[in-house]
Amino acid sequence: MSIRTLHLLGSPVLRERSSEVPEVDDHVRELVADLFDTMRAEQGIGLAANQIGTAERVAIVDIGEEEAIVLINPVIVEREGTIRDEEGCLSIPDIYGDVDRAARVVVQTTTLEGNRVAVEATALRARTVQHEIDHLDGILFVDHLSPLKRRMLLKKWKKMRKGQTGYLKQVAPAPVED
Ligand code: NI
Repeated sequence: MSIRTLHLLGSPVLRERSSEVPEVDDHVRELVADLFDTMRAEQGIGLAANQIGTAERVAIVDIGEEEAIVLINPVIVEREGTIRDEEGCLSIPDIYGDVDRAARVVVQTTTLEGNRVAVEATALRARTVQHEIDHLDGILFVDHLSPLKRRMLLKKWKKMRKGQTGYLKQVAPAPVED
């Protein structure tokens, strides 16, 4: 288990369509553990494997208040309603935009024990599930914005990154609270 390097917007792996994992083996379990370590260090609520450089269909969602969801080869099988709310992404720090998402989803996923299950999620948890599954298809939240809004945010992103090279972020452990 370890904190991994985060890939930021501009890194090609974020635009890859990730491959399905053939089975839940030690490699996948380690990947899930690394996702949790890295997401917690960054104080995020979800993370997809390609954000740490592994283009496989594995992601996690943990909004804190409800049980975490491990997504392995996830498929959304039900969607209901629409909510527009602000969204961000650990791979595009400090950039936020309003995105329409289904208010409720049911997602089929494989558990760490290898069982195929259906998990229901609503509100923020549903939003995060959809955001992470987008990652597995090489889609980022800014792709859902109007062309004008997207251009504006990407301009801001470029400005904020001025002088920085590369698209990798070394993640430091989160400070321990007393
Ligand atoms: Ni993201």
